[in-house]
Amino acid sequence: MRFLVTAGPTREPIDPVRYLTNRSSGKMGYAIAEAAIEAGHHVILVSGPTNLSSPSAAEFISVSTGDEMFDALRSQAQNCDVLVMSAAVADYKPANVSSQKIKKRDSNFSLELTPTRDILAVIANQDRSFIAVGFAAETENIEANALKKLREKNCDLMIANDARIAIDSDENEVTVLFRDGGIQKISRAPKKIIARELVKIFENVREKCLTKKIM
Ligand code: CTP
Repeated sequence: MRFLVTAGPTREPIDPVRYLTNRSSGKMGYAIAEAAIEAGHHVILVSGPTNLSSPSAAEFISVSTGDEMFDALRSQAQNCDVLVMSAAVADYKPANVSSQKIKKRDSNFSLELTPTRDILAVIANQDRSFIAVGFAAETENIEANALKKLREKNCDLMIANDARIAIDSDENEVTVLFRDGGIQKISRAPKKIIARELVKIFENVREKCLTKKIM
């Protein structure tokens, strides 16, 4: 199968020396890319800035902003079987990017932010033949919020995790929510182990989709 995996944070520039970003390390996405390669799949890894090395067998696309990630996915998505959006895409970007360094002042300073495009919602709502997997990072009402995201973003699977456990950590614990209402928990374990379990689940869901189409 052909896996298209996103990982890491995005960076939204404010001026030539500053940007908005988040604490995502990229470890979960890179672990999924590695596990998919181990299982014999072709992997394209689209990554925001991280300190990790890409698995050598993956096709690697480096991006910085959400718009760059969207462009990379748009050109690759129609050729994939499984899209895994584990990237932590910034929800807002500065309304204006200053071409000069913003100088400090003595008074308070406000930055106007504008919402970014929801990459997963746009791509998963297009006519598609791949399965779409999202990652919901939550700190409260984890399953309910993740289920809402599954529906709103038209995903086949939403992987719910507690951002306080997952962020910048080598471990995670996740709840997999399926489009048909099914739920499967994977208890706390190194991200590499969780990634192997997730890849098996993605393979099964993809196989089932293909079988349904043939029937
Ligand atoms: N996502 C995306 N584009 C965005 C924001 C999120 O594609 N602009 C994707 C993420 O990659 C992830 C899923 O949507 O697969 C859920 O992301 P998450 O940050 O948990 O949720 P948000 O939609 O950003 O909602 P909120 O911040 O309110 O929890």
